[in-house]
Amino acid sequence: MSTRKKRISIFDTTLRDGEQSPGASLDHREKVEIAHQLAALGVDVIEAGFPIASPGDFNAVREIAETVKGPEICGLARCVNADIARCGEAVAPAEKPRLHVFLATSAIHRKFKLRKARNEILKQAVASIKYARRFCSNIEFSPEDASRTEPDFLAQVVEAAIDAGATTINIPDTVGYAVPAEFGALISYLFENVPNIDDGVISVHCHNDLGLAVANSLAAVENGAGAIECTINGLGERAGNAALEEIVMAMKTRADQLGDLTTGVKTEKLVPVSHMVSRLTGMQVQRNKAIVGANAFAHSSGVHQDGVIKKRATYEIITPEDVGCRHEGGEIVLSKLSGKHGLKRALSRMGMDLNDDELVGAYESFIDLADKKKVIYDDDLLLIASEQMVDASSVYKLEHLHVSAGTGTVPTATVRLRKGEDVLQDAACGDGPVDAALKTIDRLTGIQGRLLDFALQAVTVGKDAMGEVHLSVAFGKDVVNAKAASTDIVEAGAKAYLSCVNRLLTNRESQNPPKRKSARKKTKAKKAAGKNAVRKKTVRKPAKKAARRKK
Ligand code: KIV
Ligand code: ZN
Repeated sequence: MSTRKKRISIFDTTLRDGEQSPGASLDHREKVEIAHQLAALGVDVIEAGFPIASPGDFNAVREIAETVKGPEICGLARCVNADIARCGEAVAPAEKPRLHVFLATSAIHRKFKLRKARNEILKQAVASIKYARRFCSNIEFSPEDASRTEPDFLAQVVEAAIDAGATTINIPDTVGYAVPAEFGALISYLFENVPNIDDGVISVHCHNDLGLAVANSLAAVENGAGAIECTINGLGERAGNAALEEIVMAMKTRADQLGDLTTGVKTEKLVPVSHMVSRLTGMQVQRNKAIVGANAFAHSSGVHQDGVIKKRATYEIITPEDVGCRHEGGEIVLSKLSGKHGLKRALSRMGMDLNDDELVGAYESFIDLADKKKVIYDDDLLLIASEQMVDASSVYKLEHLHVSAGTGTVPTATVRLRKGEDVLQDAACGDGPVDAALKTIDRLTGIQGRLLDFALQAVTVGKDAMGEVHLSVAFGKDVVNAKAASTDIVEAGAKAYLSCVNRLLTNRESQNPPKRKSARKKTKAKKAAGKNAVRKKTVRKPAKKAARRKK
């Protein structure tokens, strides 16, 4: 048993490694909102993205750096000057910027991926750290695949990186291959064999391919690591990263074994933030997930229930209140009479802080929903709020959908979309009501999508529960995922599909920003748009409220 008292720094990479989860999708507005909630949760560092990856990533990191106060804001870069400069530019506005550079060091990566010898790797790492210091004094270096790197070479790289000016050295178990005793011993080896190790912080970044990410991270702090990289709900590449909520609660609950390891995380926000991240990424949390799963505090056997009634600690090692878990299966929070302030308070409790315009929209949707559903649960509210957080840059909005379908009828859909000030309307037939609605959207937008996956799930309980549709759509080579919910599943499908179209357009525009048009080209473009308008029947400026009522 250890008796050390130590503050462990929590480095959250939900928005970088977590966003790399297959199936996860976040738009700009959602990333910024999550970053604000991570700051409120009390993490020490937010890795906000990989700025060179796309203009969208750059913009998200930049806005987070500009607006999120409290934690350090970090961006990731390969050991390549262009990456580093772009990353430096993105994190520059932060109160506390951090630049994270990485380069693989293991024999397998050196030989097959990088085709470089040890000395070349060492040279590139040092040069990149020195270059990164031109942009920021707070530099993190990760020897990628460290756990499979020869320990003597790893020690040499860590020493050189600290000498070159890295302030944090992160030891990744990139492929989740390590086991706890081995990983702990590796950290201990570095403390014994790197002469300047006390000049930097040793951090760890464990993947969960063998389900050992949290155990490996804890073994590392027991052996001297001062920081842990992790994600909400354990999101991340492949099987994910170490789950932040599990790390924090393990250290809090088992101080008797792990030593007095403290963090700045406000544990009562763990469940609300977990729900919010799950809702926005579209990545569901398994019911039996530790700490934040729906069953984490549910006692089903009679013996257990009896024990808990007599003394909670018989079967509960953490109280639900400690992690902000209010009610199994979702809380009934509001009625129609709760008003806008009640809605705002309930959303804010769940970690959703909407701006005034978004709140107005959310309130309208809430009243609409309260007309259709008897009880409104937390999850309903999260959905309403996340729908309001659509990017301001969304090109198309669904204003009206009518479908007719049934035995012996030809499924037909009529769709009205808003595009800026234009209203576009058309109708089409399909193999079913969803197919008809999506075909009509294709006609209106002029963009053909191919549905790869359509998954439907109930958001809460009861026959009147909202249905959430998750879609994966291919537009040529681009595959886009999105989700949407409604009490009408055809409408949810149409909204999710339109959201895919909007994301496609935003991605394409951020990759090829529009060039300024000459006056002649503008006239030509207007004429072309005019031709289109005939086909699509353009109606100008309808009264916004009247259009909404019809919906
Ligand atoms: O898993 C990994 O090695 C990484 C690095 C970039 C830290 O994500
Ligand atoms: Zn990783």
